[in-house]
Amino acid sequence: MKNFVVLISGNGSNLQAIIDACQKQSIAAKISAVFSDNPTAYGLERAKQAAIPTVVMHKTDYADNHAYDASPMTEIARYQPDLIVLAGYMRILTPHFVSHYLGKIINIHPSLLPKYPGLDTHRKALANEDKEHVTSIHFVTDKLDAGPIILQAKVPIFAGDKPQDIIARVQTQEHRIYPLVINWFVKGRLAMVNNSAFLDGCKLPEYGYANED
Ligand code: GAR
Repeated sequence: MKNFVVLISGNGSNLQAIIDACQKQSIAAKISAVFSDNPTAYGLERAKQAAIPTVVMHKTDYADNHAYDASPMTEIARYQPDLIVLAGYMRILTPHFVSHYLGKIINIHPSLLPKYPGLDTHRKALANEDKEHVTSIHFVTDKLDAGPIILQAKVPIFAGDKPQDIIARVQTQEHRIYPLVINWFVKGRLAMVNNSAFLDGCKLPEYGYANED
């Protein structure tokens, strides 16, 4: 059976959706370990409750910045994963790591990429009076939040919404689409070729499979 690792930094609600999907066998693969750069991430507790090994990459555990920056490479190599899933992982991966695992790293980012890369996307959408918010699943490349898009999901923004309302609405969609995409990958249906995402041998359009425009 294929195996994958999940990298988190916080609550781990996406991790929970992925764990649940593995348990229901709607993902045909096993999570071999969960990695966190944050020792207090609640996602670590979720992994422990599911009997999944956890690894904390905390700055103070490494001799220097170089060793810390290299820590995902060092720690993850032990598991030889078929796929690396970033689920709310807020640290930037080194170019060496990304090139080593190119085509095997996916990320979920709460925006209509390439709009709003980086942090605070919900606040930016509110400030710009956007009528909807989006979450994007994409392959990770050496450009931050800019790799080929696989799938997006849209949610409405209502008058009076606070960032927390939008986060909750977006995450409900994330919990549906991330397990689906992981299963596409582990079943060999999804791949990155020449900086494009392919599903079942067909090149996906710029905004991924779910684009409605
Ligand atoms: C998710 O909403 C994800 O889109 C976002 O962090 C949240 C993590 O929530 N990711 C990013 O902002 C990456 N740039 P979770 O810990 O509850 O899964």
